[in-house]
Amino acid sequence: MKKKIVVLASGSGSNLRAIINSIETGFIKNAEIVSVISNKKNVLALDISKYYNIKSLVLSNKNKSRQFYTSQLIQELDKLKADLICLAGFMVILDKKIFEVENSKYKNKIINIHPSLLPKFGGKGMYGLNVHKAVFAAGEKESGASVHYVTSECDVGEIILQEKVNIEDCKTPEEIAKKVLKVEHKIYSEAINKILK
Ligand code: GRF
Repeated sequence: MKKKIVVLASGSGSNLRAIINSIETGFIKNAEIVSVISNKKNVLALDISKYYNIKSLVLSNKNKSRQFYTSQLIQELDKLKADLICLAGFMVILDKKIFEVENSKYKNKIINIHPSLLPKFGGKGMYGLNVHKAVFAAGEKESGASVHYVTSECDVGEIILQEKVNIEDCKTPEEIAKKVLKVEHKIYSEAINKILK
């Protein structure tokens, strides 16, 4: 029986595409993406899922409390019987109830990719280009990406896989972002393999 992966995405979906590619090439074996869930309409991640004939769902978080949104998401995930939930550029913070006892099936079932060497440059406000601006401002010689379990606190879950990249030749935060994104695409599939094997 193939393992069921659900990908949550809010934007460009480049990590989603990387996971799809890994499944298509057989790098990730015995797994399928059964649904892509986005909190936003008209995002590239949804176009990518349509192109690959992957079911998608828009579950808007507009005018919804974090608790209410999380309950709706749990209902969808229960229906999908997901074995692994991958946050890939998903910009909604989930309520801690998803990790609590009655939902313990989702403890260590939700993972995220973060564009820095956690615990450095993680936490509140540290997402997207903000991360690379902070790394650049700090004069770091290296950055990288981290795949970690999602917990009730932002970016502090156990790290599953991390990879460094030298950024001494980067002259802007955008250049760092480009280098780090390549690492993200590589290690997300490696982390999925590590968990699902
Ligand atoms: C990536 O930098 C990822 O680390 C962060 O969201 C950004 C966009 O990811 N979580 P994607 O291109 O939408 O997959």
